Amino acid sequence: MRSVNSDNITETFLSYFSEDTDPRLKEIMTSLANHLHGFIKDAKITHDEWQQALALLQWTGEITTPERNEFVLLSDVLGVSSLVDMLNSNPKATSSSVLGPFHINNSPPMKLGADFKRHYEGEVVLVEGCIKDIDGNPIPGASIDIWQTAPNGKYSSQDEEQDINSFHGVFTSDEEGKYRFTTVKPCVYTVPSDGPVGKLLDATGRHPWRPSHIHYIVSAPGFKSLVTEVFPDDDPYLDQDTVFGVREDLVVGYERKAAGTFPVEGFELSGAVHEDYLRFYFDATLNKA
Ligand SMILES: [Fe+2]
Repeated sequence: MRSVNSDNITETFLSYFSEDTDPRLKEIMTSLANHLHGFIKDAKITHDEWQQALALLQWTGEITTPERNEFVLLSDVLGVSSLVDMLNSNPKATSSSVLGPFHINNSPPMKLGADFKRHYEGEVVLVEGCIKDIDGNPIPGASIDIWQTAPNGKYSSQDEEQDINSFHGVFTSDEEGKYRFTTVKPCVYTVPSDGPVGKLLDATGRHPWRPSHIHYIVSAPGFKSLVTEVFPDDDPYLDQDTVFGVREDLVVGYERKAAGTFPVEGFELSGAVHEDYLRFYFDATLNKA
């Protein structure tokens, strides 16, 4: 079309697809063009504003490294990561939640009941639960990949003081689908705010805080892997997670246990517990593949 204008640019764009374009790609690009062009018209975007948007994306690319993916973070704070999770979840299975940027591959395997916190001090928590299918049958031999912040609020990849495997480990469910380990209560923390995402949050008056959580990836042959997080029910940021990761079924009560009642059978502990400790249960239900 020679005379492209604001009324026909979307239609013109769609006419450029070749006939053998993959149908799903065509569906996605058609929707993208309709919404993106509609957004530019609706918000009456100026040249300066569009240049700012492109500069933000350029900065996002420049700051991204193998250890820090600012595009993932941008998707998270815009609510897009969580929306994709919600649209692809089965209500009978445990909700998925954001992966975040701090997962590491090949975390060390750990024995059931192991002391995940090792020598770190903090409020001791016993974690246990069961891995099940959507009919309630236990899944033995499931892999449960766990990671969390150290008591200083940092993941190992953010902290030179920590070994890279600190607070990262993989458990395997027993013949009844059960798992358990000892750890310390994770901390609230801020998403990285020294880059374009931080600038965007600041400009819109948003804070960068996340409620404390423990990350899980649960996988087993024949089942869809579950990427999720578990939150304590008394966290101050539960209702204002900056990446929109909280779901009702991912919130658990940390039960307080009296000092002197540890050790509990099946849980290892380095050192002694002289104060109250905490305990929570979290069962994960997996979808069939
Ligand atoms: Fe996290």
